[in-house]
Amino acid sequence: MSEESVAQHYSHGALEEQILGALLTIGVDPEHLEPDQLAPVDEFHIGGRIATVALVDQMDLYPGLRVLDVGSGLGGTARYLAQNHQVRVTGIDLTEEYVQVARSLTHRAGLAEQVRFHQGNATALPFDDHSFDRACMLHVGMNIADKQTLFAEVRRVLTEDGTFGLYDVMRTGTAEITYPVPWASTPATSFLTEPAHYRELLAKAGLSVAVERDRRDFGVAFFRQLRARIADSGPPTLGLNIVMGQDASAKVAIMIDNLERASIAPTEMICQPA
Ligand SMILES: C[S@@+](CC[C@H](N)C(=O)[O-])C[C@H]1O[C@@H](n2cnc3c(N)ncnc32)[C@H](O)[C@@H]1O
Repeated sequence: MSEESVAQHYSHGALEEQILGALLTIGVDPEHLEPDQLAPVDEFHIGGRIATVALVDQMDLYPGLRVLDVGSGLGGTARYLAQNHQVRVTGIDLTEEYVQVARSLTHRAGLAEQVRFHQGNATALPFDDHSFDRACMLHVGMNIADKQTLFAEVRRVLTEDGTFGLYDVMRTGTAEITYPVPWASTPATSFLTEPAHYRELLAKAGLSVAVERDRRDFGVAFFRQLRARIADSGPPTLGLNIVMGQDASAKVAIMIDNLERASIAPTEMICQPA
């Protein structure tokens, strides 16, 4: 089953322990966290927090809305939304360890009342029809072969005037993709497809793309700055290198190479019920 292999790819074994250790090393008390202090480690997508803000600022958010975060990872986006937009967030993720760490970090950051997490599959959402006003999904579609069912599920749980913001790595060229990359160690769990195919599948699910934005240049610039910082002062104590494990630098280097060859591009789509 590809889902099991995906969850296995992301499972770490000692993630919470290592994040809490890194927080202590940089002088942050893990029992009284400010959500922003986690941003270097809990936004697992190209561009991190900057990319999150750029996406969600297009989603017409206001206090009290019910927001679904599909593939919520360690919960960084969910906590950002709750703290900065006063919305109630539900995250769902396949990887049990991520769900546990997301819950713990959210509790430590004092946001457990506004943010909850479920373990589950985005292609079979355990939620009622029309139970969310907004949905977002950041760097998750690359792991899901059946995007048709994924989008049908997102459409089902969204209200009629809802908005779905997605930010995925998409296929933009014909050159072969090399592995490992942060979302997959081998092609067996990587299901990249083109923006046009996303639009087609979204349309079949009843979602039309109102805004689409290729973020490749932003991604390339982001990694150039990151590399310069690492060359200057070494890998960060608190960073995604913890989440990605031993071959983190190889995964990132290969992804940058794919990005610079224009084989892939992180792409935003803001969708509305058709
Ligand atoms: C690259 S991480 C991104 C996490 C988070 N959205 C973020 O940006 O920080 C991809 C996430 O998608 C989750 N995922 C992959 N396939 C999934 C599925 N079928 N259902 C739910 N979550 C899934 C993984 O467990 C992982 O947490």
